[in-house]
Amino acid sequence: MLSFNNNQILLKRRPTGWVTPDDFELVQTPMPTVATGQVLIKNQFLSLDPYMRGRMNDAKSYAEPAKLGEVMVGGTVGEVIESQHSKFAIGDQVVGMLGWQTYGLSDGRGLQKVGSKSNPSPIPLSVWLGAAGMPGVTAYAGLFEIGQPKAGETVLVSAAAGAVGSVVGQLAKLHGCRAVGIAGGPEKCAYVCEKLGFDACVDYKSPEFRAQLKAATPNGVDVYFENVGGAILDAVLTRMNNFSRMPVCGLISDYNATEPYGVRNFVAILSKRIKIQGFIVTDFMSIWAQAVQTLAGHILAGRIKTHETIAEGLENAPTAFIGMLKGANLGKQLVRL
Ligand SMILES: NC(=O)c1ccc[n+]([C@@H]2O[C@H](COP(=O)([O-])OP(=O)(O)OC[C@H]3O[C@@H](n4cnc5c(N)ncnc54)[C@H](OP(=O)(O)O)[C@@H]3O)[C@@H](O)[C@H]2O)c1
Repeated sequence: MLSFNNNQILLKRRPTGWVTPDDFELVQTPMPTVATGQVLIKNQFLSLDPYMRGRMNDAKSYAEPAKLGEVMVGGTVGEVIESQHSKFAIGDQVVGMLGWQTYGLSDGRGLQKVGSKSNPSPIPLSVWLGAAGMPGVTAYAGLFEIGQPKAGETVLVSAAAGAVGSVVGQLAKLHGCRAVGIAGGPEKCAYVCEKLGFDACVDYKSPEFRAQLKAATPNGVDVYFENVGGAILDAVLTRMNNFSRMPVCGLISDYNATEPYGVRNFVAILSKRIKIQGFIVTDFMSIWAQAVQTLAGHILAGRIKTHETIAEGLENAPTAFIGMLKGANLGKQLVRL
């Protein structure tokens, strides 16, 4: 048994409204003992994702709430350091859901091997938590399975400089569409156009937002990939074309709100015959492997560009998480452990 300690972040209390660092607790626990059929992993990166805010609530949802006093849920990538499992060896690089902790014990279920000592991952390990991982598959599945864009159509995506949105626009471009982003601030919009190759990006914080959205979508919007909801959704509804599609992936503007904004321009859905479908990425397990293969191919070939905002050390995960919910991240928000 290894003699050092494990650092963990537990959910201490359930927030009302905005999350605070006091909702979490950093603890040190003894290293777990590896039993037959188990592997011990040293996590190298922790993914911080908006869905974690929902798990902090004790509310009925598509997934069980995180439990008080237990390690916060979260995606991780790391290296096997001890194995009593026939399918994993020391040095294997694995993606899993081992939570906010520096070491994780697993029975192998839900653990995806992405490299080994002799055959390391072809892409940086952290990217398996971003464009080649859950956020990338979310972008791929929502855009193609629900949005069903055709070449030449206009695809609009909100939170365009983030983990999911940045992949949506780049996939839309590769598909021959006009890709338009919505993001917070001129720096993010410049990144979306200049680095990611979107055709246009509109700053929703600008007082000219509605006029700029109109100018950026001269032929209207055929697919709106919804990540934020609220007032942005109402503005976008005015630009949607007849028979357009709207995959509803996330509504981040409401996640910390005590009074949800709702949809005020609901009539547009009827008059424009818009098809709207919410989805959870796990609805698309049947295409997961194919999506990952396509995304990893695009990343390796440089057709999909990635960017990461990395917080250093587990102890900084709570503030980085709150920062991500407020838009402090560019690209995928991670913690280096
Ligand atoms: N359905 C699923 O299975 C699934 C899976 C993964 C993610 N999601 C959803 O996809 C969305 C994006 O997730 P992500 O992981 O890619 O996160 P992300 O975009 O990397 O980070 C969140 C971004 O949301 C934006 N934001 C925060 N508050 C906002 C507000 N009030 N109005 C507009 N934008 C706001 C911020 O960007 P700005 O600086 O531009 O405001 C922030 O950077 C989230 O809604 C998430 O819940 C859903």
